[in-house]
Amino acid sequence: MSLVTADNLEKTYQIGEITVKAIQGVNFSIEQASFVSFVGPSGSGKSTLLNMIGCLDPPTGGSLHVAGQNIARLNRKQAARFRGEHIGFVFQDFNLIPVLTVFENVEYPLLMVQNWPEQKRKKQVNDLLEAVGMGDQAIKYPGQISGGQKQRTAVARALVTNAKLVLADEPTANLDGETASRIINLMKKMRDELDTTFIFSTHDPRVMRNAEIIFTLEDGRLLQNNNGGAHV
Ligand SMILES: Nc1ncnc2c1ncn2[C@@H]1O[C@H](COP(=O)(O)OP(=O)(O)O)[C@@H](O)[C@H]1O
Ligand SMILES: [Mg+2]
Repeated sequence: MSLVTADNLEKTYQIGEITVKAIQGVNFSIEQASFVSFVGPSGSGKSTLLNMIGCLDPPTGGSLHVAGQNIARLNRKQAARFRGEHIGFVFQDFNLIPVLTVFENVEYPLLMVQNWPEQKRKKQVNDLLEAVGMGDQAIKYPGQISGGQKQRTAVARALVTNAKLVLADEPTANLDGETASRIINLMKKMRDELDTTFIFSTHDPRVMRNAEIIFTLEDGRLLQNNNGGAHV
């Protein structure tokens, strides 16, 4: 069964008199344990699409099923709970909590949604911080680290609950080559070991090269001949 299915999906933003059709009649289906990338120029609708899959912003037309749930039917509270249980999200602007340390930011989703014993929780946070190369920055605050380090922290936070679906909006945009490939490798390992599904948006050729399925967006529409299986 597919994990994410969009059926004639639409998203329209209304700003006063102006209607912006950000996503227009999009259809796709994504199986569990896929490594998928949405690519397309700035303004093509990548963030809008990921935000809908991540239950952050409801569709305005068509349907979108995630893990069997029609997410348009969820109210705000249900959407937040569904997100906490099923989805890890790496935001384009990181969204770290400024008053929490790096460690506490990564720990936060575990405190919110899962009842892990303290020792197991601390180990999981430390393991993830090590994996993204942030082990020695754990006690710093977001205001004390670089953009790339914030991004790595955001990646660790998205992966910490072992969510079955991880969405990442331009996850490597601020990273040097070595860190980017370390993070991509970590994600692939999670996919192989835990069947995690990864859906990215990206411009980054390093991410595109690693994607197994590429969907191309243009003006809110999916171009044909997607699904090329980009094993280049
Ligand atoms: N909150 C919003 N309000 C109004 N228009 C928006 C909003 N978010 C995105 N848009 C518009 O929707 C279109 C797609 O934007 P976006 O999804 O951010 O594209 P991308 O991530 O590919 O750069 C753009 O025209 C953008 O201006
Ligand atoms: Mg975007």
